Amino acid sequence: MVERRLAIVLWLAVVLGLTAGASAETAFETAQKSKVGSLVNPYAAQEAAHDPELAAEGHKLYSSFGCPGCHGGGGGGGMCPPLTTGVWIYGDSDDTLFRLVMLGSIDLQKLGFSRRGFRNIAAPMPSYRSIITKPDDLWKIIAWIKIQTYRNTQNVPSEP
Ligand code: HEC
Repeated sequence: MVERRLAIVLWLAVVLGLTAGASAETAFETAQKSKVGSLVNPYAAQEAAHDPELAAEGHKLYSSFGCPGCHGGGGGGGMCPPLTTGVWIYGDSDDTLFRLVMLGSIDLQKLGFSRRGFRNIAAPMPSYRSIITKPDDLWKIIAWIKIQTYRNTQNVPSEP
């Protein structure tokens, strides 16, 4: 009897675990499954309005995932290219940036993207497939990069 109950509990745990996993597509799966050019940032409207709250959230995530080590704390570049000059290596579409961070630059190039030769290559951009798992987190980071680019190129001061 006890064994049977245990079996039911285990079975339930497996089923619940599977459904939870199925409903939450990882950012890497999103990048892999979708057609090139089809991804749209769900925060596009707030991004276009340069929403400071969204920017602050995105910036926090950007810092928490270790991007500043290569691109600088404000995205102005460091040992790797700046992200906020308005000049883009593979283009500026949200779809492209999402794929670049998820796949890394080597796998992005395998999809047919090529560098536009603006900058010298310090190293490849690493894939974040096992580090950023929630698509939402990456969309917020991308929104922040775009808002920060706007501030940088239009000389709009950042929030304190
Ligand atoms: C180990 C260093 C490193 C880390 C960490 C890193 N990047 Fe990069 N990133 C690069 C390099 C190098 C390139 C340029 C790749 C190329 O030229 O092919 C790049 C390119 C980019 C670009 C394109 C820039 C442009 O001008 O078009 C974006 C956007 C970007 N990274 C975002 C991020 C984000 C967001 C994170 C954190 C989640 C991050 N990177 C973490 C090294 C890094």
